[in-house]
Amino acid sequence: MQPILDLAKKYNLVVVEDACQAHGASYTLDGKKMKAGSLGDAGAFSFYPAKNLGAMGEGGAVTTQNAAAAARMKLWRDHGSSQKYVHISPDGWNGRLDALQCAILDIKLKKLDEWNERRRQAARWYQERLAGNEKIITPTVPAGREHIYHLYVVSLPDRDKAMKELGAHEIGCGLHYPIPLHLQAAYRDLGYCQGDFPVTEAVANSVLSLPMFPHITEDMVDYVCKELKKVA
Ligand SMILES: Cc1ncc(COP(=O)(O)O)c(C=O)c1O
Repeated sequence: MQPILDLAKKYNLVVVEDACQAHGASYTLDGKKMKAGSLGDAGAFSFYPAKNLGAMGEGGAVTTQNAAAAARMKLWRDHGSSQKYVHISPDGWNGRLDALQCAILDIKLKKLDEWNERRRQAARWYQERLAGNEKIITPTVPAGREHIYHLYVVSLPDRDKAMKELGAHEIGCGLHYPIPLHLQAAYRDLGYCQGDFPVTEAVANSVLSLPMFPHITEDMVDYVCKELKKVA
């Protein structure tokens, strides 16, 4: 974030953080530990059920210290309404977070720090078992950062074969993400094709998200690593 914020300052740009996979993650800025979502001008969080802080349906939130931006977003959230039955802007849509989701998120928010710590413990178990394997690249966390492991992503050659083999042992893995943006049909009109972003493409072809959730046990991690090392 530091280089991004420096660049934004230089060119007078606004920084919007995509913190959708980063509830509780932190970054040290000017010696101060800052949470994701508080580093830029605004931060976006997703409460999609699978997220570290997930609702039982769809939801999300935006954080900001900018009062004018907050007021504008509140209008957009509720059909341009400033108070019940009073609409002061034609802009906006129904983006209200429903009460049921709020109640669930309120309960889960109290558990977030503990569940993030459990994810970090699981990451340490993975790291202990996979470090030193020449074929498997594990995530690293630079000093001053706190990862919350929404995903635990490794990289290895022959990823597809590994995923299939793990699947055969009832180990569910994910790909985040298999198709880079420049190769998505939605952006075909931009004219990019295979080979235009070789690093991105190589990463998309080699990443594998291993099982990661707060209540994964050391035995489960053991089993995943044992099978992964066999195929790698
Ligand atoms: C990094 C990132 N940004 C944005 C989103 C979009 O969130 P939502 O589906 O709640 O709009 C996601 C959800 O998968 C995400 O992981």
